[in-house]
Amino acid sequence: MIAPHGGELIQQILVNQHANEYLTKGSSKLSSVVLNTWSLSDIELIASGAFSPLTGFMNLADYQNVLQRMRLADGTVWTIPITLDVTNEEAAKLEIGSEIGLKGPDGNLYGILLLEEKFTYDKQQEAQHIYGTTDINHPGVQKVFNKGETYLAGPTFMIKRPSHSPFDTYFKDPAEIRNAIKERGWQTIVGFQTRNPIHRAHEYIQKVALEMVDGLLIHPLVGETKKDDIPADIRMKSYQTLINQYYPKDRVMLSVYPAAMRYAGPREAVFHAIVRKNYGCTHFIVGRDHAGVGNYYGTYDAQKIFDNFSKEEIGINILKFEHSFYCTICESMGTTKTCPHEKEAHLILSGTKVRQMLRNGEYPPKEFSRPEVVKVLMEGLNQNEP
Ligand code: ADX
Repeated sequence: MIAPHGGELIQQILVNQHANEYLTKGSSKLSSVVLNTWSLSDIELIASGAFSPLTGFMNLADYQNVLQRMRLADGTVWTIPITLDVTNEEAAKLEIGSEIGLKGPDGNLYGILLLEEKFTYDKQQEAQHIYGTTDINHPGVQKVFNKGETYLAGPTFMIKRPSHSPFDTYFKDPAEIRNAIKERGWQTIVGFQTRNPIHRAHEYIQKVALEMVDGLLIHPLVGETKKDDIPADIRMKSYQTLINQYYPKDRVMLSVYPAAMRYAGPREAVFHAIVRKNYGCTHFIVGRDHAGVGNYYGTYDAQKIFDNFSKEEIGINILKFEHSFYCTICESMGTTKTCPHEKEAHLILSGTKVRQMLRNGEYPPKEFSRPEVVKVLMEGLNQNEP
């Protein structure tokens, strides 16, 4: 089994008596902060070890190293800040060295932060380093500019798991996925991150990868995404339909990745890869414009960024795929590596165009998307329409 990032799978979920102490008598005595769904998912991912070796929200030294060097202060590769923001007024009320209750948007107490540090930060600088832009139209940058001005840092513990509905059956912690991999006897597992429906291009790169490894973990992100992305519950139905009809069930696992989407392109690709290593994957797919949005990143920037690190530092094999498409002359899927024809022969539709077609009840060609998948997406989207 592949070693987690940093060597050890972090486990910070307090169970039974210890958690009950906080949940019953402790909560009224604690100072607390209310987390949004993004930060709530962060504490769960820290607690379950998905973000190993992180044990909590980053302190200033880690934060600055991540921004400037794409590493934690100890040199471990890490590309995305995991931070908890509050307003300056809230921060002033919280005492260093104290235990802070972490409440969810529903007011329930989910976790504890041992407050070790508070620090202010430069939003322009964070946006520029992480997203490569300070343009407020970038969804990640917008989030940064809407945050509180102070970050709270220190180890976090989860004392109550948030609801995973409607994804309960597909919600598995890294330790559970690692066990499932062991049970199946897979030596090599490729992880696939997605925030979109699986179209033929995705299916192609997954299956090309699956020709080379024992198993495939389809690991769609189901945390917060931007409004015009297809909602996760509808996507999940489409993945199930696709797997049922077109994938060898004994070689594929479908599970959810409950993190928020950052849209940080290259930096998020490294982050996604490291996190999937923590879930037990030995390989990870990075295709075209991974975790990109608009035109902020070059098509292959998310692949090139891995050149900054040694193979050992990343520890998971990156399978890089060119832009894939259906070629009407080859009559098959391919990329410019395998297809010699001009782009006029290639069937390429943008995500925006496809979403538009789905909302208008128009089926994209079957060479672009399986009709069974389109049907599920259309039904889901039409039900969701006001
Ligand atoms: S992402 O934001 O989660 O990266 P998406 O769900 O679209 O977006 O992509 C999932 C993975 O498939 C990413 O690695 C992406 O680079 C890759 N990918 C998506 N479309 C293509 C394509 N046409 N050709 C090659 N790779 C692709």
